[in-house]
Amino acid sequence: MNKKTVRDIDIKGKRVLVRCDFNVPYDENRNITDNRRIVAALPTIQYLIDNGCKIILCSHLGRPKGEVKPEFSMDIVAAELSRLLGKVVKLSKDVVGEDARNLAANLQPGEVMLLENVRFEPGEEKNDEELSKAFASLAEVYVNDAFGTAHRAHSSTTGVANYLPAVSGFLIEKELNFLGTALENPARPFMAILGGKKVSDKIGVIDSLLEKVDVLMIGGAMAYTFFKSMGYNVGNSICELDKLDLAKEVMEKAKAKGVKFMLPVDTKIGKEFDANTESKIVKYTEIPDGWEGFDIGEETIKIYSEELQKAKTVIWNGPVGLFEFDQFAVGTNSIAKALADIDAVKIIGGGDSAAAIEKAGLAEKFTHISTGGGASLEFLEGKKLPGIEALQDA
Ligand code: 3PG
Repeated sequence: MNKKTVRDIDIKGKRVLVRCDFNVPYDENRNITDNRRIVAALPTIQYLIDNGCKIILCSHLGRPKGEVKPEFSMDIVAAELSRLLGKVVKLSKDVVGEDARNLAANLQPGEVMLLENVRFEPGEEKNDEELSKAFASLAEVYVNDAFGTAHRAHSSTTGVANYLPAVSGFLIEKELNFLGTALENPARPFMAILGGKKVSDKIGVIDSLLEKVDVLMIGGAMAYTFFKSMGYNVGNSICELDKLDLAKEVMEKAKAKGVKFMLPVDTKIGKEFDANTESKIVKYTEIPDGWEGFDIGEETIKIYSEELQKAKTVIWNGPVGLFEFDQFAVGTNSIAKALADIDAVKIIGGGDSAAAIEKAGLAEKFTHISTGGGASLEFLEGKKLPGIEALQDA
């Protein structure tokens, strides 16, 4: 990585503002349902504790859109952090107000506090200068470790870096090392599995990966747009009728680049969008009217799994089916299992595919599971991430 990290500056005893991505999912009782993003931030926090720093953590949670809304309070994160660190993490009542300033000023070496949700401030998403200065005034050094939010140019992710020495934490360093190496210097064959609803959401990453991979496997609802572009009926399946030409162009580009472009050969279809709907597997050319495609079929699972045996590097972004419903999670779980057993660098590009791997209990079988959803997608597209650009060059 060509950016400075906490290792590269004199941080001993300093008051440090650390932007994390603690945007974790939680249920209606406000219980955190997946704490991976909090756990992933611990190495940096522990390093700062060990160096006697006074640590001010901050993050957003959800999208409160510049308003103070108690249901988006960071209280649940403060409690989880306290549990994981085995020490009290105080939560300030405001973001950069009197309470935050007082708590920050009174921190002792090794103590950790958390600011209230940075998106309670209307200036946060506007990358407001005054707010950025207010963040900076709390500390002597700024550390960004929020890989999952690195694609957002907000006050706490980029603006603040104009007013303090700004370096990366270990999570950002690790994410860039894994994702960057896989893209720039992959062991081959290099294969990608892309799922997701829409071709239009993934076109950037498809384009970029077609320049790099040997094999590209398509799953998820976007497959139906490809089938339609080939002239087949897709019933009620999700399909972008205005993207049929784009789908054709993708297939032509793959051919021109010599990339093996693989589409499902069969699909599991259901009568309606319901967990217990009647379902069956049909060939991709034979989706009847009134049915909707929700997963890849058994033949596709077999073909994809066999192909993956040859891979030396695999990047997977997006579940290949509607994995939230058990009967349509078979494709995603089977691909996860096939990958778990192969000897290759295996990287999960965050978001829903990471959730699917967790749900399947296979997380430890993968080389790296990114904590970024949108951020890892933009990175795979080859875009520059503002939260990383803002940091000091190494
Ligand atoms: C994410 O979950 O992808 C990040 O935390 C960014 O959240 P956002 O999409 O609300 O900016």
